[in-house]
Amino acid sequence: MIDIHTHILPSVDDGAKDISESLRMCEIAADNGVNTIVATPHIYDYDKVKDLLQIRNEKISELNRLLKENRCLVTIYPGLEVYSNEKLFDIKDFSLYTINNSRYMLCEFDFNEFDTLLIARYIDHIVSSGVVPIIAHPERCAAFFADYESLNDLMRWGVLFQINANSLSGYHGQKEQRLAITMLQCGFCDFLASDAHSPNFRSTDLLEIILKSQFEFSGGELQTLLVDNPEKVLNNIEIKNIKRGHISYDILT
Ligand SMILES: [Fe+2]
Repeated sequence: MIDIHTHILPSVDDGAKDISESLRMCEIAADNGVNTIVATPHIYDYDKVKDLLQIRNEKISELNRLLKENRCLVTIYPGLEVYSNEKLFDIKDFSLYTINNSRYMLCEFDFNEFDTLLIARYIDHIVSSGVVPIIAHPERCAAFFADYESLNDLMRWGVLFQINANSLSGYHGQKEQRLAITMLQCGFCDFLASDAHSPNFRSTDLLEIILKSQFEFSGGELQTLLVDNPEKVLNNIEIKNIKRGHISYDILT
C-alpha cells in the first residue's frame, strides 16, 4: 500500500519531532502493509519553497538510508502539502510543488474558508498551469459543509480527492465523518491516506484505522484507493475513467 499524505520527516513542520519518531512511524506503516510513503510537509510561504525542498530532500535521503540500515521495508518519496493563499496566483509553474515530479499536487485549503468561489479560482489557476490538484481532506473544509453542491462543480476541473482514513471513524468530528462517508459513497474519493503527524496520535496505522471504521468498501475499492491510484501518481500516469455520482442535499442531511 501507498500512503500519499504524511508529515513523517523529522522537525520540518508540525509532524515527526525527531528521527526516532520518523522511524517509529515507518515501522507502524510497515506493520500495516504500507511499503511506500510520500512525505508531504506543509508549505505556507511560497517564497521559501527552494529552502524547504532542499531540507526535505536531505531528510528523505537520510531517512531512506536509515530505513535500509534497519531493514524496514518502507521507501519515502517526495511531495508537499500546498496551502492555498492569494499569493498562489503569482505562481505560473507548479513543477516544484508536485508529488515525485509528477503532474499531481496535494493541495489544502483553510479549514475555515467558506468562499467556494475562491477555492474554485485556486483550482482553476492550478489546472490552467497543467497540474492536477489532489484536494487533501476535503471532508475537513468548511466550504464543502456549507455548499455541498460545490463538490459537484469541481468535477469540471478534473480534481481528485484524498480523504483522511481516520475521518471515517469520526476522529476529526461528526460533520467530517458524515461528509467523508458521503463522499466515499458517491464516488468522490480517489485516495485514502493517513495524514500522519506522529507515532502516537494521527499515526501511520492505515490498515488498522480503516478496519476500525467499519465502513463497507466495495470489491476492489481499497485496492484502487490505496494501491492503484497512488501508484499512478508516483509514476505520473493519468488517472482516468473515474466514476462519480452526485452529492445532493438529500444525501448530506
Ligand atoms: Fe497534512
